[in-house]
Amino acid sequence: MKTALITGATEGIGYAFSQLFARDGYALVLVARNEQKLQEMVKSYEQQQTKASYYAVDLSDLESVIALYHKLQSDGVVVDCLVNNAGFGLSGLYTDLSWEDQFRMFQLDMMAVAYLSHAIGQEMKARGNGKLLNVASTAAFMPLPNMAGYGASKSFVLSLSDALNTELRPYGVSVTTLCPGVTRTKFHEVAHTEKSLLGSHFLPQATPEEVAAFGYKAMMKGKPIAIHQWMNRLEIGFVRIAPKCLVRKVLNKSLEK
Ligand SMILES: NC(=O)c1ccc[n+]([C@@H]2O[C@H](COP(=O)([O-])OP(=O)(O)OC[C@H]3O[C@@H](n4cnc5c(N)ncnc54)[C@H](OP(=O)(O)O)[C@@H]3O)[C@@H](O)[C@H]2O)c1
Repeated sequence: MKTALITGATEGIGYAFSQLFARDGYALVLVARNEQKLQEMVKSYEQQQTKASYYAVDLSDLESVIALYHKLQSDGVVVDCLVNNAGFGLSGLYTDLSWEDQFRMFQLDMMAVAYLSHAIGQEMKARGNGKLLNVASTAAFMPLPNMAGYGASKSFVLSLSDALNTELRPYGVSVTTLCPGVTRTKFHEVAHTEKSLLGSHFLPQATPEEVAAFGYKAMMKGKPIAIHQWMNRLEIGFVRIAPKCLVRKVLNKSLEK
């Protein structure tokens, strides 16, 4: 039986990923902070005959991420599919947001992804198989005034994962970067983007199930980059070819509160 480890598995896109892996007969290793929710998920999956276990970890603390990896090793967990999904955003002017909050975001959105991709990627390379999916965002392709740190973190994830995919391909390991656009999850509550044009309900929002299904398919096919929905691909094309001053104005407006 193959095993899938999903970070940020209790909500939104991560939860939807867990359902897809369960459907396809994987054993689940669920990671997030909320232990009660994790316990409930494990119970519910076990009732559906899906093997599941959990690790309650705050992945914004690198020491805890490293400890998680050592625990996985001592528990004999072999990860066939890794989904680095846990993440959050913060909106507001970079200089006005607290450094401590942004540091936590950088640690979770970049360091946890970088560390787990390194540690588990190393094992996959040695075995000669494995699939990794790192969740970035359409924000990875553009500067994001009013969410500057978040956008920069996702650019890091995209750049690292795309290069890692090229490095690991010859060893039978694929790395997919999933880039969702605006998706209806708790993300916007946490990031306080509900009042901005992007986070509001005026623009169409994807469901987490749609995003996860798209990412899952791309991961199974070993696609390098998966940008969800044609509107988002169009937006990224616009950012690439339009004059930079226009791009900056449009992006600034879209996240203004
Ligand atoms: N929603 C969007 O519009 C959107 C767009 C583009 C990209 N994304 C990306 O998609 C990914 C998933 O986001 P989502 O929209 O599904 O958000 P969500 O509904 O808020 O879910 C976030 C998940 O991450 C976990 N998490 C948060 N902080 C954590 C921490 N410090 N340690 C461990 N786990 C933590 C949460 O569980 P606990 O609270 O239990 O820890 C939860 O399971 C993120 O990387 C996000 O940046 C989202």
